[in-house]
Amino acid sequence: MTESDFPRIIENEDGLDDERQLFDWAKSHEVRLKALLAEAGAILFRGFPVTTAAHFDAFASAFSYDEFTYADSLSNAVRVNLTPRVFTANEAPAEVEIYLHHEMAQTPISPEKLFFCCLQPAESGGATPLCRSDWLWSEFQAQHPPWAEQFRALGLRYRMEMPAEDNAGSGQGRSWASTLSAQTRAAAEEKLIKLGYRWQWQQDGGLVTQTPVLPAVKRLSGGAESFYNQVLAANLGWQSAAREGQPPVTFGDESLIPSAAIEVLIELAKRFTQPLAWQKGDIALVDNHRVMHGRYPYRGNTNRQVVVCLAREAAND
Ligand SMILES: [Fe+2]
Repeated sequence: MTESDFPRIIENEDGLDDERQLFDWAKSHEVRLKALLAEAGAILFRGFPVTTAAHFDAFASAFSYDEFTYADSLSNAVRVNLTPRVFTANEAPAEVEIYLHHEMAQTPISPEKLFFCCLQPAESGGATPLCRSDWLWSEFQAQHPPWAEQFRALGLRYRMEMPAEDNAGSGQGRSWASTLSAQTRAAAEEKLIKLGYRWQWQQDGGLVTQTPVLPAVKRLSGGAESFYNQVLAANLGWQSAAREGQPPVTFGDESLIPSAAIEVLIELAKRFTQPLAWQKGDIALVDNHRVMHGRYPYRGNTNRQVVVCLAREAAND
């Protein structure tokens, strides 16, 4: 596997021309495609007959993954539901960059697989950068063993601020009620206790939470490891939204991550990142445990539409 094979591209060589044929094709190639994903980290399906969220939903359903629902989890991105399993990817404004992250790695429960679908590309910009964080971690360990050991031994704690009301102007702007799928403070606290979080209600009605210690590294099938966390996004993107003097992520013992280590990680990530420049109808299947994603800013038309479906490995896989 070389960096030029990432993401792997599969084109519509069989000339499939409707969504029923596409579903049957995906179903009949499911085992091969999943094996390819384990090696490639991300697959781009290009030129297939996909023009609506419903087509995309049908394609994703061919893979017999379990659905991942927000009710089980904590996501702070503002999204809109289009079909039962398809959401808008992130409602943040065009000029806001979404930095590289693993979907929900800052929470105890996160989806293993992500499907993205481009229903409408931007006129200019708006690519989705994809970064192999197994390659990133391997290189970081080789270059900086003491820092790597700190990440591995200490893990991470995340501090999150959830506003009283949804704020669509931010990439992480969901209110606490929406993030926690809770209507009352009591219900919110019940969920936080279940997840092992600490919390503090704010004077303005917002909520600040702190996660339990979460691993910074994930062991993948096949024995490799990835840098499965939100250190990059938290430092590049969440920092500006955080209250002064309170870093959004620390080591698990609450000591500071050295800024020089973060700089090295940011630079290394560039080396293992490929931008996915969307074409209409593209679908990307991403191994969320192995690959980070983000969103570059865009201009021109404001109706860029990239939608997402989150999935979990089925229990019997
Ligand atoms: Fe995301």
